[in-house]
Amino acid sequence: MQKIIILDFGSQTTQLIGRRVRELDTFCEILPYNKFPKDDPTVIGVILSGSPYSVYDPEAFKVDLSQFVGRLPVLGICYGAQFISHTLGGKVEKADSREYGRANLETVDTTNPLFKGFDQHSQVWMSHGDTITAIPDGFRCIASTKDVKYAAFSFTPSPTPKGDAPLFAVQFHPEVFHTLQGKQLLQNFVVDICGSKQEWSAASFVDSTVAELKAQLGNDRVILGLSGGVDSSVAAVLLNKAIGNRLTCIFVDHGMLRKNEFTQVMEDYKVLGLNVIGVDASAKFFADLAGVTDPEQKRKIIGRDFVEVFNEQAQALIASAETGGAYRWLAQGTIYPDRIESLNITGKVIKSHHNVGGLPKEMNLQLCEPLKWLFKDEVRRVGRQLGMPEHLITRHPFPGPGLAVRILGDITPEKVRVLQDADDIYIRGLREYKVKLSGEEARRVLAAGVPANMEDGTIEVSLYDQIWQAGAILLSTVRSVGVMGDERTYEHPVALRAVTSTDAMTADWAHLPYDFMAKVSNEIINKVRGVNRVCYDISSKPPATIEWE
Ligand code: XMP
Repeated sequence: MQKIIILDFGSQTTQLIGRRVRELDTFCEILPYNKFPKDDPTVIGVILSGSPYSVYDPEAFKVDLSQFVGRLPVLGICYGAQFISHTLGGKVEKADSREYGRANLETVDTTNPLFKGFDQHSQVWMSHGDTITAIPDGFRCIASTKDVKYAAFSFTPSPTPKGDAPLFAVQFHPEVFHTLQGKQLLQNFVVDICGSKQEWSAASFVDSTVAELKAQLGNDRVILGLSGGVDSSVAAVLLNKAIGNRLTCIFVDHGMLRKNEFTQVMEDYKVLGLNVIGVDASAKFFADLAGVTDPEQKRKIIGRDFVEVFNEQAQALIASAETGGAYRWLAQGTIYPDRIESLNITGKVIKSHHNVGGLPKEMNLQLCEPLKWLFKDEVRRVGRQLGMPEHLITRHPFPGPGLAVRILGDITPEKVRVLQDADDIYIRGLREYKVKLSGEEARRVLAAGVPANMEDGTIEVSLYDQIWQAGAILLSTVRSVGVMGDERTYEHPVALRAVTSTDAMTADWAHLPYDFMAKVSNEIINKVRGVNRVCYDISSKPPATIEWE
């Protein structure tokens, strides 16, 4: 299959470039800046990402452009553009002030293939500290803004027998929403200039992956750990399509899931025809967590218990499968962002949460990761393609240790019950409350894979679908005084959290409507015994995190 290579110089938006290319039904791979695959005939174009560095930083990442320039079409974005200019004889200098935020193109050459279909004053998004003050010989300036003369430039040689490929560079970021015609620009590059046949789709992914899984797994059996989340569920349905009931799933209830979630999800899995062993291990988890207040300690205990319970089940399965193929594989719902090697090139440690510690070696299982090439929104599309119910597909992320990291203080079954009730009222409210969105907000929600029809530039979605993640937190170490009827109460507060985000690495608190918050707060205080106060968390990440623990 054809692919675009995105060379990553460490920008925060590199993944977004990848997602935008995939939205154009084109496969792409994000690789570290110095790992261009020289001999891969399926590569049809190269994109150079932005970077936190200036081309003058001693530690700035450098790539040997001669590996692909002239041979394949190239698009440099931000640092990518500056690196091209700097290396090929142009000039890059410190900008007087950092060029950051929205800008409008003052001139744009719409006869250039990169800008086909562009409006004259199209809005773009800038974010750079250096600026290009001269472009290399033979290059043409193809767009400017008021402050940035060389907003875009290109080198489009007349085709020669060697087929000299063109080179384009933009100092703005076409991959972010604030660049209103960014998608058009990327489409011009990927489809028109690189010649993508647009053969990457949910349907083609399902067909080819099912065929590959059949060939890879043969008559073997597979074990998969389900969490109720979208990734493991889609992986299970995909595997089920490939090998039927030779897939056995294990779903461990640690007792700290959302209200009724274990039963509901088991029901969903049954309808989907999955072969699932549901294990209620809550007693073990509660016993081991008794009296523990430290967040990391809680995580460790839950992780350890989870592995124990899972392994016990897996071992029993392996021992029992005497006929009809042996268990040789452990399947996981790992997705592409979990494994993009280059994300670590700037040396920033990205917080990761490993809930499954891996199976003991003696079980001798190989790893099967059918979603390893997909971004989250693609996982959702594949789920829809497989006919999975919408509520499973658009489910918010939920931490592996569950409500244990949303109860400050020690965990007891009673506290979990209180939090489950409050959380349930909140989440149901979010699902029921509809909002109309337009402009960038509507586009953001649609791009995240929420199904909605745009009418007159507006979409209607639930608050639940508008936000990335929400939940209630029980401040069980705090008590405050209230009054209910004629009685004085001395109970715990619940904090509500809702954030918007694209990847959980950064997040903004969601601006929920006041009437919604008033209704939910009332309902929680009136109905949930043990809670007499509701607060709303208005911290963003960073410096706060999404979860409280
Ligand atoms: P933070 O709190 O780090 O959360 O901003 C980022 C994302 O990760 C989820 N999260 C977890 N997921 N095990 C998980 O599987 C965990 O221990 C864990 N802690 C946080 C969190 O819900 C958010 O989506």
